[in-house]
Amino acid sequence: MCLRVDNHVILDVNKDLKIVEIFVDGKSIKAKDGEPILAALLANNIIINRYTLKRREPRGLFCGIGQCTDCAMIVDGVPNVRTCITPVKEGMVIETQHGLGKEKI
Ligand code: FES
Repeated sequence: MCLRVDNHVILDVNKDLKIVEIFVDGKSIKAKDGEPILAALLANNIIINRYTLKRREPRGLFCGIGQCTDCAMIVDGVPNVRTCITPVKEGMVIETQHGLGKEKI
């Protein structure tokens, strides 16, 4: 099952975006260059972005507009990156975040 929207009756879906490789928890996946990281994750059936600090509960897409932080992940060593508003770049390294995450730079 692929969750990426490739056709939409109202929105302009750019089908000409270059396909790039990114890495999620050590696994290589294909993404469209410039699409939101979260869109690439959903297209690859990855729905958990982080686990909460106290209760270790999974979180994923909620608002989709950069307001709730439920989609926060560690991106290229930087924790708390909101993946719904951060564009994909070739070779990105993305990790599921546990709690507040740790700087890995
Ligand atoms: S889903 Fe709410 S900030 Fe990304």
